[in-house]
Amino acid sequence: MKDKLRIYVFGASGDLAKRKTFPALFELFSRGLLNDVELVGYARTEMSDEEFRDVLSEFLTCRYVPGESCQTYMDDFLALCTYEHGMYDADSLDKAFSKYEHVENNIFYMALPPVVYVSAVDAIHGAECFEYCQSSLKLVLEKPFGHSLASSEDLQDSLSSYFVEEQFYRIDHYLGKELVQNILVLRFANIFFEPLWNSEYIERVDIFWKETLSLHGRAGYFDKYGIIKDVIQNHLIQILALISIERIAELSTDNVSCAKLKLLDSVKKLTKNNAVVGQYIGNGQVPGYLEEPGVSEKSKTPTYARVNLEIENERWKGVPFTITAGKGLDETVTKVVVSFKRVKPIFKDMCECQSVPNKLVIQIQPEPHIYLGICNKVPGEGFKLSKKRLNFLYSEGYNEQIPDAYASLILDVIKGDKNMFVGIEELQASWRIFDDFLAESESNDGDMPVAYTFGANEKEVF
Ligand code: NDP
Ligand code: BG6
Repeated sequence: MKDKLRIYVFGASGDLAKRKTFPALFELFSRGLLNDVELVGYARTEMSDEEFRDVLSEFLTCRYVPGESCQTYMDDFLALCTYEHGMYDADSLDKAFSKYEHVENNIFYMALPPVVYVSAVDAIHGAECFEYCQSSLKLVLEKPFGHSLASSEDLQDSLSSYFVEEQFYRIDHYLGKELVQNILVLRFANIFFEPLWNSEYIERVDIFWKETLSLHGRAGYFDKYGIIKDVIQNHLIQILALISIERIAELSTDNVSCAKLKLLDSVKKLTKNNAVVGQYIGNGQVPGYLEEPGVSEKSKTPTYARVNLEIENERWKGVPFTITAGKGLDETVTKVVVSFKRVKPIFKDMCECQSVPNKLVIQIQPEPHIYLGICNKVPGEGFKLSKKRLNFLYSEGYNEQIPDAYASLILDVIKGDKNMFVGIEELQASWRIFDDFLAESESNDGDMPVAYTFGANEKEVF
């Protein structure tokens, strides 16, 4: 058997595969991190290898190789990519893959709508051509992992009848973002945060996720999910967990996962009183949500939500954690703002900065940036104070490129490193926080979201 890696991408004709999975694989290839590999796309659409390569080539960009050698890298990468077509049953997989020689490492990446996961995994399990690698193969799943606690449990029950938990890698691509991973380093590799990281010194924590975009062709999916299931229950709750977990003894999948589970289990369930939801209306240039093709006429799906969460443990007693997320807003940004408690002023010159809290801001995107808002003495006689920033812009501090989140996570899958993947128990704990609220708001009695104009500054609207 060849000591080779083969990555099968199911749903290879789709949006995710083209826009994220293959470009991320190309990034790894151009960084010299994908060796002895074959990349096999699979979907129902009929395409030749050449047609498939033509589609992929439109989405590859050379961030890691000099412009003049870019085409050579792309050609070499595309030569590794082949395509097969068929349905998701064992016979079809055998028909497509029996001719492939056996290799040591096999990864199946499900770039498929979640309704297809079970039949695809069943087919892999039942296909004779994959019998030889059943106990070693890895399966990569994309969010959403269900649409409620019950459906995620059902999905898991089905999947776990074929393969064991160690073989599943649930991707939440925010966990692959450099600044999200850096939360653990900031907190646990620096001495000064930990003593202050509790309700005695922290007043509140805000997580902001804003996009200027509308649905860019994903209305069919989004209208069934809405902003809470799209980004809050997964991406942003993972950020909240990393910000608030207890200190871990050392970095390991079990330690990170246990700490996140413990934390998520202590988050109080969201109630109606602690949430505001909104839906954008048109602004004259961009149509409103209800006018988007694919959105149902009377849809109550929120495109915006602000939720106040409480963590019921000793460390965070009484500290509000607010997550604000919205599409169709005035800017695109994801950031965490930790506001510290105010100091007792001792300087006579009562300037603004003595009355505002120190803030630690971790800006995840677009421009990776960390800064600490401090109160500083204005140069000169006396004690005149002003607000200043201790500033760290990644673009100034590092020459290195920021790796793509998918590339980082796919590399982890190859290495078998699960620190930055979503464990089944934490997934279910995160559904538990939102489940009752979502069921109530999706019922016939649920209120209509508050309207806001596309492109609004959310502060002006709510
Ligand atoms: P698509 O809707 O584009 O589907 C991917 C491919 O799956 C399609 O090209 C189609 O290929 C195949 N497919 C669709 N429906 C079925 C079906 N009923 N049975 C069998 N095959 C089907 O999805 P995306 O690529 O957008 O997303 C894939 C996964 O990734 C989803 O789970 C999504 O939620 C998740 N995701 C996507 C993101 C994105 O930006 N697109 C971001 C984060 C997560 P064919 O017809 O050729 O078989
Ligand atoms: C996806 C959501 O998971 O994340 C999208 O389904 C959202 O609605 C996207 O736009 C945001 O990802 P990123 O990496 O562009 O911030």
